[in-house]
Amino acid sequence: MEGLFITFEGPDGAGKSTQVHLINAYLKDMGYKTLVTREPGGTPIGEKIRNLLLNCDHSEMSALTEMYLYAAARAQHVGQLIKPALQEGTIVLCDRFVDSSIAYQGFGRGLGMDLVEAVNLFALQDIEPDLTLFFNIDPEEALKRGRSRSGSPDRLESEKLEFHKKVYKGFCVLQEKYPWRVRKIDASKDVNTVFKQVLEQIECLLRCKK
Ligand SMILES: Nc1ncnc2c1ncn2[C@@H]1O[C@H](COP(=O)(O)OP(=O)(O)OP(=O)(O)O)[C@@H](O)[C@H]1O
Ligand SMILES: [Mg+2]
Repeated sequence: MEGLFITFEGPDGAGKSTQVHLINAYLKDMGYKTLVTREPGGTPIGEKIRNLLLNCDHSEMSALTEMYLYAAARAQHVGQLIKPALQEGTIVLCDRFVDSSIAYQGFGRGLGMDLVEAVNLFALQDIEPDLTLFFNIDPEEALKRGRSRSGSPDRLESEKLEFHKKVYKGFCVLQEKYPWRVRKIDASKDVNTVFKQVLEQIECLLRCKK
């Protein structure tokens, strides 16, 4: 039995991690085997690359280096964790995936969608999300939510609002380009209302795939 691969995407502070954990608890209660993971990260090597990427001391990192590091972490993640889990029939819930690379490095850093997609083609090793939930919320609102959390902002969160607006535009373009895979969630609503939307999309996927 093949599993399901569901990715959670959207601006910093949109509420993705909150919903990943809520839906994971729900699916586990229903008896599904699930795996929660995140990008960059998910594997020991990937978590080391995450530290390189998010470290605020690395302000000289070029956009190209950033893109390749995300893709390198993803190659490890897909090969070591995601593919084997899907082959075992697990529902994989991934907090950010390739669409974040396209939005942040392609649009935010200005490398362009084509370049980032081309480089990631090899990292993906023929896997594609069955469903991507785009947490649609004004990036400024999302950043405010994020700042209410404890801890200091990471290297990408610290970018100026202009950058986050370009990233947001990237997610919108992706949703328009891949509407059959990328579903919009109105993430401006309260946690329960957002959860209902997330659940509706995942139940719809479970109905048509299982
Ligand atoms: N629907 C919501 N309404 C209001 N606040 C929310 C909502 N969802 C999450 N929050 C709060 O907003 C903050 C950011 O949420 P969360 O960490 O889930 O976002 P995120 O999308 O994972 O952010 P990041 O991209 O930085 O990892 C947290 O303090 C969380 O409790
Ligand atoms: Mg998060």
